[in-house]
Amino acid sequence: MTHYVLVPDDLEPEGLALLRDRPDFEVYAPGKMTREDTLAQVPRAEGLIVRSGTQVDAGLLAHAPALKVVVRAGVGVDNIDLDACTARGIVVMNAPDGNTVSTAELAFGLILALARNIPRADASMRAGRWDRKQFMGMELRGKTLGIIGMGRVGRALAERARPFGMTILGYDPFLPERAARHLGLIPQVNDVYARADIISLHALVVPETQGMINAAAIEKMKPGVLIVNTARGKLINTADLADALRSGRVGGAAIDVYDVEPPPADHPLAGLDNVILMPHLGASTYEAQAAVGIQAAEQVINFLVNGTAENVRNRAVFDQPPA
Ligand SMILES: NC(=O)c1ccc[n+]([C@@H]2O[C@H](COP(=O)([O-])OP(=O)(O)OC[C@H]3O[C@@H](n4cnc5c(N)ncnc54)[C@H](O)[C@@H]3O)[C@@H](O)[C@H]2O)c1
Repeated sequence: MTHYVLVPDDLEPEGLALLRDRPDFEVYAPGKMTREDTLAQVPRAEGLIVRSGTQVDAGLLAHAPALKVVVRAGVGVDNIDLDACTARGIVVMNAPDGNTVSTAELAFGLILALARNIPRADASMRAGRWDRKQFMGMELRGKTLGIIGMGRVGRALAERARPFGMTILGYDPFLPERAARHLGLIPQVNDVYARADIISLHALVVPETQGMINAAAIEKMKPGVLIVNTARGKLINTADLADALRSGRVGGAAIDVYDVEPPPADHPLAGLDNVILMPHLGASTYEAQAAVGIQAAEQVINFLVNGTAENVRNRAVFDQPPA
């Protein structure tokens, strides 16, 4: 039996090779496909691998009678209608592990860039100046790094910061107590605010975390604190952060993610000197993209060949009566 897998978004060749090397799989992956082409190909597909560019909605599913599994090569599944998939008995998975180290490395790079004013000093040199006094920096050794969200990326950041002599204060209310004790997490986010010199955000967006970095939270932080966000834009109340950056209450911020992407030209943080802005590059390394593609391909193969499911995003699908 041949399993037909459709890949309507760009996927790194390492992942595609795993599928193409198997005699029991047929793959259609011409690169980024139009909606029209996708609808034309999807009726035969048992497996679908997408990134964020393909909308897996009820309209697409109506053309996909053979579909059993959708894998998002990456983390966010906002482009996939989970309820519609569940109703049709289609398992939805993501492939979250490949991005972890790249995102943690970017967060750490941004911490160093803020602490040593790297982008501003570079811009000043290019403008023909030699401003050594203006860019006095701060050592990371002996400083306290607050990490909000100690999942995959938060822990990978902690591992990288410890050898620099930083004290880590991790906060994550959803880890089991044993894991929390093992990682030395602290139970109150207010303690992170009160003690951290640098705060790096790595939580999921849930009602409790949405807008959590607002004026009230900033008021509890050390004056001059540095804030890094490589998680999701919605964790921060941007207007409150911009006010605090203008007043110097927050010393600097480095931002990779925005509530709307790309952010509008009049975004409150654009134009502030003490801010580093990045165009959502956390996962943008060759290694991460290859790893994500491999994980997505392996999960499709494991599911269609062995029936094993990992990183399932719609667990309710298993409560459905078989189709
Ligand atoms: N910039 C990028 O390109 C990029 C790449 C990968 C991941 N991300 C984002 O980074 C974040 C972390 O990713 P991950 O792979 O480590 O996810 P993860 O699921 O492994 O970790 C997220 C952690 O957040 C914790 N959390 C939930 N509610 C919380 C709360 N109220 N306070 C503190 N922590 C809370 C969870 O318990 C979990 O441990 C996610 O938001 C993800 O979307 C961004």
